[in-house]
Amino acid sequence: MSTLIDLKGSPNPKIIGRAIYSYEVLGSTNIQAKDLAESEAEDGTVVIAKIQSEGKARRNRNWISPEGGLWLSVILRPNIPPQKATLVTLMAANAVDETLSEYGLKAKIKWPNDVLIDGKKVCGILTEAKTKENEIEYLVLGIGINANFDLSELPEDIRGASTTIKNELKRDISQDELLQRLLGHVNKYYEGLLASDFQKIVKTWKEKSDTLGRHVKITTQMESIQGIAQDIDDTGALILKRDDGDIQKLFAGDCVYLRNVE
Ligand code: BTN
Repeated sequence: MSTLIDLKGSPNPKIIGRAIYSYEVLGSTNIQAKDLAESEAEDGTVVIAKIQSEGKARRNRNWISPEGGLWLSVILRPNIPPQKATLVTLMAANAVDETLSEYGLKAKIKWPNDVLIDGKKVCGILTEAKTKENEIEYLVLGIGINANFDLSELPEDIRGASTTIKNELKRDISQDELLQRLLGHVNKYYEGLLASDFQKIVKTWKEKSDTLGRHVKITTQMESIQGIAQDIDDTGALILKRDDGDIQKLFAGDCVYLRNVE
């Protein structure tokens, strides 16, 4: 059962969060959002759950989603080329970063989609796309923020590399306020994306980047490559100066830091 909060009639309705479907428990908000998108849910529709029993992370991993986290997905129907879809992940990372800064938390972004506080992951982002004839039919932007729960809720193998807002602030915060702030920032960047202001998204991401300038190992489905993360281009692809001197562009992959470069 979901509760539908429909904000279309409110003054100055924004795109993101025009309609919000809110659930107690879901397998995955991304899966529910895909189902809604298939039945014509409009641009900006949000799906949120208090608990996810089978939260999805990148590369078919599980995303542990206990009560107290902010687990949500946004259905987007931007009229942009599929090659620019990565910018949606970047814009979400910018929005999370900005939201966290409003709580006095200094976060940085690890390519492609992790938000870190002091090197520990507080948020993951999973963007999934449905395309048709080289056009985006819809995107599902999934954002998971470790908010009001103790680290002991997470399995031991990921605990050391993770943090939560509660762990950082030593207090709970209002989930509703966190949601409203986050959606406001996502809305701002999304309006920029629709107005083709791709530069702003990329520029802000670079300012918040934890990855650029580092010696990294990127593992894709095909290969593992090491080099210096030099830049990202205007589609959000990582430009890697490989250890053998060649330049390679990467659109997705797992990123591990090797050592800092002076
Ligand atoms: C990652 O770091 O690999 C991405 C994690 C994304 C988790 C969020 S939680 C809300 C949304 N629903 C899901 O099933 N996954 C995303």
